Formats: sequence, structure tokens, C-alpha cells
Amino acid sequence: MAIAIACLFGLGLWMTSLGYYDAWYNQAPSIHKSIGILLVGVFIFRASWKLFNIKPQPLSTHTAIEKKLAHLTHIMLYILMACIMVSGYLISTADGRVIEVFDWFEIPATLTNIENQEDIAGDIHYYLAFTLIGLSIIHAFAAIKHHVIDKDDTLRRMASLPKHPNKNKNHSKRKKP
Ligand code: HEM
Ligand code: HEM
Repeated sequence: MAIAIACLFGLGLWMTSLGYYDAWYNQAPSIHKSIGILLVGVFIFRASWKLFNIKPQPLSTHTAIEKKLAHLTHIMLYILMACIMVSGYLISTADGRVIEVFDWFEIPATLTNIENQEDIAGDIHYYLAFTLIGLSIIHAFAAIKHHVIDKDDTLRRMASLPKHPNKNKNHSKRKKP
């Protein structure tokens, strides 16, 4: 999802800078919307998975403030992703048009009567996309900090890599004999 979001961000900025006579003027937004809708599906799957499965607990070596900040950041990342997806849908369907996802299937328009819907949803989409990218960069740096400075398993366990061989401080509360 992170890779798709980064690509949608770049594609979104590029496509809105294109002129009417550019070859990609229609195709680029169509690709942006199609990938965006597929991402909505993945997001719903991910959120349901999180709701109905056992949640990984923070490592015991994390401080109380780290746990609080990580929890808050993750909630914000979920909220931002959801709001960007909803606002994208509202821009695309403001004039009652359906969204065609790669000629595979269509998503119907529902809410279409809000005044200045396209502009308001467009502004929200734009500013929240920047906020999401900013926060996810901080989030990624935090993950790298755990890996490189703290040398704990935060990043390793997310990527399903083997635990750190020597410095695995995670759950070792037992005293050495
Ligand atoms: C997390 C996913 C997404 C990201 C990061 C993202 C990012 C962006 C960005 C940065 C822009 C350029 C905004 C501007 O310069 O005004 C944009 C435009 C746009 N996006 Fe997205 N987007 C996402 C998902 C979606 C979805 C799901 C849809 C709809 C199905 C969508 C529909 C649009 C449309 C129609 C525009 C053009 C707005 C305009 O012409 O002003 N986006 N997006
Ligand atoms: C658009 C970019 C990204 C988004 C939206 C995002 C979002 C999230 C969210 C929502 C969670 C919480 C998962 C949960 O427990 O429900 C998470 C966890 C995590 N993310 Fe990201 N992420 C992004 C990029 C990255 C990158 C680039 C890295 C690595 C450098 C990374 C490393 C991690 C790690 C290690 C965790 C697990 C933390 C733990 O086990 O407590 N993320 N991410």
C-alpha cells in the first residue's frame, strides 16, 4: 500500500499539471482513479483484518511515550488514508459520472448534490495527501530509528525477517544465570 500511495501522490501532482492537449490528459486521471479504487478495496480488507485478528503488541523495550506516539500515528495514518479515498471518490463523481476501473468494473456516483463539491473535495484531497506523505515519512524514519539506532525487531517483525541475532532485547526480561 505504501508503494501504491507514493505512486498515486506523484501521479496526482503530475496529472493535474498537464495541459488539455497533452496525450496523458485523460488517461493519467483514469489510471489514478482506477489504482485509487483498487487501493480502497485493499484498505477495507486491511482494516477488517485488523479488526478481527490478534493485534501484535508493541515490543516490551519501547518506552511509554513511544507506544503512545506510535499508536496515535497509526490511527492518523488510517484516518488520512480513508479521508483521501472518500474525497477522491467525491471529486470523481461530483458531476454524476461513474468511475471506470481499468474497464473491469464501474463504481457508481452516489453523493452528487453538494455545492462546489468538486472544489471542496479537491482541496481536502490535495492537503490531506501532503499531510499523509509528511506523516508517513516521519513514520518511516521512526521505523528506521528502531532498526538502526535501537537495534530492535520493530521493522524486522513487520517484514517477517528473522529476529536480530545478538541484540534481541524484546522479551528478555529473564535474568542471566
Ligand atoms: C491514498 C491515495 C491517494 C493519494 C495519495 C492521492 C493523491 C492525489 C494528489 C496529490 C492529487 C493532486 C491534487 C492537486 O494537485 O489538486 C490527486 C488528484 C486527484 N485524485 Fe487522488 N489520491 C489518492 C486516491 C484517490 C482516489 C481513491 C481517487 C478516486 C477514486 C482519486 C481521485 C483524484 C482526482 C479525480 C484528482 C484530480 C483532482 C483535480 O483535478 O483537482 N484519488 N490525488
Ligand atoms: C504511505 C506510507 C505508509 C503508510 C500509510 C503506513 C501505515 C502504517 C500503519 C497504519 C501501520 C499500523 C499497522 C497496525 O498495527 O494496524 C504501520 C505499521 C508499520 N509501518 Fe508503516 N506505513 C507507511 C510506510 C512505511 C515505511 C516506508 C516503513 C519502513 C521504513 C514502515 C514501517 C512500519 C513498521 C515497522 C510498522 C509496524 C510497527 C509495529 O510493529 O509496531 N511504514 N504503517
